[in-house]
Amino acid sequence: MNILLISASPRKSKSQTLALAQHVVKGLGVSARVETVHLCDLKIGYCTHCEACHVACLRCPIKDDVPALLSKMLAADGIILATPNYINQVTAALKAVFDRSSHFIHCKRLLGRYLCGVVTSGSGTQDDRVLDYLRHYSHICGAQFSGGVSACSYALEKKTAEAVRLGRKFAQDIGRRKEYPAQTRVIKKGMAHFGRIIGMRKDHWRGEYAYWKEKGWL
Ligand SMILES: Cc1cc2nc3c(=O)[nH]c(=O)nc-3n(C[C@H](O)[C@H](O)[C@H](O)COP(=O)(O)O)c2cc1C
Repeated sequence: MNILLISASPRKSKSQTLALAQHVVKGLGVSARVETVHLCDLKIGYCTHCEACHVACLRCPIKDDVPALLSKMLAADGIILATPNYINQVTAALKAVFDRSSHFIHCKRLLGRYLCGVVTSGSGTQDDRVLDYLRHYSHICGAQFSGGVSACSYALEKKTAEAVRLGRKFAQDIGRRKEYPAQTRVIKKGMAHFGRIIGMRKDHWRGEYAYWKEKGWL
């Protein structure tokens, strides 16, 4: 099982969020191969809304490290999104990656894959809002969300057991191809919505229209 851990903190090895995420990794068990990517090591540009990735799937004129990261996300069975709470949101680096992945949303490219979330903050409050956003991102890309864990950075130890449990559940969900019916309903509703849009824009978003046709979704 291939797991990608995306660490969105600029503090790299000093990151408290990464420290909590390592407990999730501990819970995954021995069959998991985990690759950690620190967004602060990558060159990440902003989406310019040129729509090149919709015309030809995944094509992007920005020459940076994001296309390679998106390829890693596509190759993973599960993705752990670890982000500090920055003003009740993910960090700007992670948001920039999300923005660059809008093709994932149009074509539900994370269908059949699993995501989970790890958040820390200074206050230990409002972290659910960040986890909710990570859940939302999962669903709009088609992925099942196995859950999240959050902690106040000054009291991580209170949440380490919960983080290990989340890792165990994450590995089980991936191994058993678990589907959460309520999540599948949300994903399908999103697909129906995008099916209509892709159909309407078929002359412009040619690559994505062809992808939907090839999948037999249109
Ligand atoms: C720009 C910025 C915004 C932050 N916003 C919040 C916030 O809204 N609420 C909060 O409790 N902590 C906030 N914090 C504190 C971090 O969430 C907290 O220290 C976190 O554990 C850092 O994670 P890291 O060690 O993985 O980088 C903020 C920190 C920064 C640098």
